[in-house]
Amino acid sequence: MLFKQQALLRQKLLVLGSLAIGSLLYLVARVGSLDRLQPLCPIDSRFGPHGQEEIPLRALQFKRGLLHEFRKGNATKEQIRLHNLVQQLPKAIIIGVRKGGTRALLEMLNLHPAVVKASQEIHFFDNDENYAKGIEWYRKKMPFSYPHQITIEKSPAYFITEEVPERIYKMNSSIKLLIIVREPTTRAISDYTQVLEGKERKNKTYYKFEKLAIDPNTCEVNTKYKAVRTSIYTKHLERWLKYFPIEQFHIVDGDRLITEPLPELQLVEKFLNLPPRISQYNLYFNATRGFYCLRFNIVFNKCLAGSKGRIHPEVDTTVITKLRKFFHPFNQKFYQITGRTFNWP
Ligand code: A3P
Repeated sequence: MLFKQQALLRQKLLVLGSLAIGSLLYLVARVGSLDRLQPLCPIDSRFGPHGQEEIPLRALQFKRGLLHEFRKGNATKEQIRLHNLVQQLPKAIIIGVRKGGTRALLEMLNLHPAVVKASQEIHFFDNDENYAKGIEWYRKKMPFSYPHQITIEKSPAYFITEEVPERIYKMNSSIKLLIIVREPTTRAISDYTQVLEGKERKNKTYYKFEKLAIDPNTCEVNTKYKAVRTSIYTKHLERWLKYFPIEQFHIVDGDRLITEPLPELQLVEKFLNLPPRISQYNLYFNATRGFYCLRFNIVFNKCLAGSKGRIHPEVDTTVITKLRKFFHPFNQKFYQITGRTFNWP
């Protein structure tokens, strides 16, 4: 009798336990799917009485869901029409600098509900063949977005390519331009490291950084070496200033974006006239990666690919000193023009 009662009790407990677990799983799944699938409120209601944008946080999660599907090309024409989605030309472009942290900046800005990134580097303005395809080709490369959102693309080669400022100016003379810079010598070594890795992947040998950065005939800095030239930021910026006033540029501190991303992102939000939406919640430090990673919501988070944050080869300290001395006057000029001072040596 006692045994029978115990078995019955066990059975009841089992049923209750399964019910509780089932409900819990249902709730978790429901919260996740709600985040991703609940449609956005009508666009107008997102603007406050003073025309200030008030984007519900949920829009952020929604963006990860539906827009992601659209972006992957899984949307039908009917869905695109129904959701009023458009492919917009960028309102802001991250024009460089290569290895400054351009990918991190784009991905982090994409955390903002009003920002939609073009995932690939489009290379429209720096590549003659692409440019010849015309502006509609460029627009078609843009992701789908809601009309109130802004599209941002990044192609770091824009910063150093001669023809680009004029071409961008012809598209939109009031476009906002973002430049992310790092301490010039570190950036040059990072640039070298990327090329070196490419060579190693193809089982090729490559010169040491020291050999490329220093001219063996003069023992001076080799200004013909592209990684060095790219780090002379002021020279490139001066070309851009023939077309755009300095107010249209915002300089991002790439070194600070690594160690303390939020304040840098807040400055960008301000520059882009976006309401502050990116918060500390969206950024968490991943000790294994040694970098900040991105948190979209309780379900989605991601770190940048392993190709971002490579270990740099050790470089002879005399070469580093020489390079830093070389960059110094150019840096001073850059601070003067941009009004942003860095603690570069
Ligand atoms: P290193 O690989 O030299 O460390 P870009 O995207 O322009 O190619 O820049 C790459 C650089 O972005 C990396 O250079 C890395 O230091 C920097 N970076 C900044 N924030 C990062 C992040 N959260 N995760 C990974 N890399 C980041």
